[in-house]
Amino acid sequence: MENFTFWTPTKYVFGRGVEMQAGQLTASMLARKVLIVYGGHSAEASGLLGRVRESLTEADVEWRELGGIRPNPTDDKVREGIEMMRADGLEALLAVGGGSVIDTAKAIAAGVPYEGDFWDFFEGKAEIGDTLPLGVILTIPAAGSEGSGNSVITKIDGKVKISIRTEVALRPKFALMNPELTFTLPPYQTACGIADMMAHIFERYFSDTPCVEITDRVAEGVLMAIIEEAPKVMANPTDYDARANIMWSGTLAHNGVCGTGRKEDWASHAMEHEISAVYDVAHGAGLSVVFPAWMTFMAKNHPEKGAQLARRIWGVTEADDHKAAIEGVMKLKQFFKDLGLPVTMDELGVKEPDIDLLVERLHRNKGAVIGGYYPLTSTETRLIYQLTL
Ligand code: NZQ
Ligand code: ZN
Repeated sequence: MENFTFWTPTKYVFGRGVEMQAGQLTASMLARKVLIVYGGHSAEASGLLGRVRESLTEADVEWRELGGIRPNPTDDKVREGIEMMRADGLEALLAVGGGSVIDTAKAIAAGVPYEGDFWDFFEGKAEIGDTLPLGVILTIPAAGSEGSGNSVITKIDGKVKISIRTEVALRPKFALMNPELTFTLPPYQTACGIADMMAHIFERYFSDTPCVEITDRVAEGVLMAIIEEAPKVMANPTDYDARANIMWSGTLAHNGVCGTGRKEDWASHAMEHEISAVYDVAHGAGLSVVFPAWMTFMAKNHPEKGAQLARRIWGVTEADDHKAAIEGVMKLKQFFKDLGLPVTMDELGVKEPDIDLLVERLHRNKGAVIGGYYPLTSTETRLIYQLTL
């Protein structure tokens, strides 16, 4: 096991009705003048935003609002938020939504105190220093941004989608997580979220670091819980306990606990980010296409971890590693299909993907070699993209 630091300063408040603590927690942990950031219509339509405003009013917190954050969020909204906060002297942010909303709020939080352009952080031209405090009310278990130190933004000019990762700077101060808020999720979004949280575990599980049995077992435990609970939320979207289990799984999948003490991979996320940047598909759906293809490649070239996963998660009994890993991929694909997710580019709605373009962009944006478990150059990433057809 490698040395590691595990630092999750976020206060998670979980359960029915917890969004009504927004005002009190904002006043005590963030500030008295905040920017509420939210997405399209879901938070207003469900009445959630109304309850949040009520809670802030009761706690004597002033606010402005920045709505209209779209999935695969873009740099223009970050700039709009930075300008609003500076103009109105706002001191903190409250994100009400999923990964897209939270990531926008995080980028604003880093951008306001910075004199240059916030995109410098995403291009690696500057290190994030001071950030404004951020609280979250989560409405979709998926990206895990409520517990991560990451933000993923797409620059409209050139459709460049970049993820930045900080140890602590971008982690929310608190996350309010009421599983009932996810009852209104459309089945496709629920399924995309499930694929994304599983992918966050796979990215950490596929590792050559030896002697990480505890981390492997934590990861397998969360995966097995997701596999058990996912069909329940799909069958009954208002099953509170199934929604609660899925919601907490999404946080544990990505707050770092499944990656402690080892090298991680992240090639599949880099490959997917190019797909969602170019074709504007849901990130989780892109992953349900890319991950089986990546795992198929690994079954041939580096099958050990895939075989372990297949045996421990999917109950595969095959002794040969290559065959066991392939059986595991088949089980994963079937699982995704049963959730209504795509497993090919065509099913994703990308009829004629431009693989040359994806490969060229991938290595221009993410480096000549990607992946911690098995280094991939453009030769291998092209093969993996071809396996998605
Ligand atoms: O905009 P509204 O109307 O709210 O609709 C949203 C949106 O269309 C809808 N939705 C959310 N909560 C709902 C709801 N609809 C009904 N009821 C509710 N309770 O869901 C749609 C998707 O929302 P989005 O925020 O885009 O989803 P997600 O959480 O999957 O976030 C995806 C983004 O996060 C990035 C992805 O790349 C993508 O840009 N990621 C961020 C990470 C991080 N910060 O750590 C890690 C991930 O790997 C990922 O890359
Ligand atoms: Zn993801």
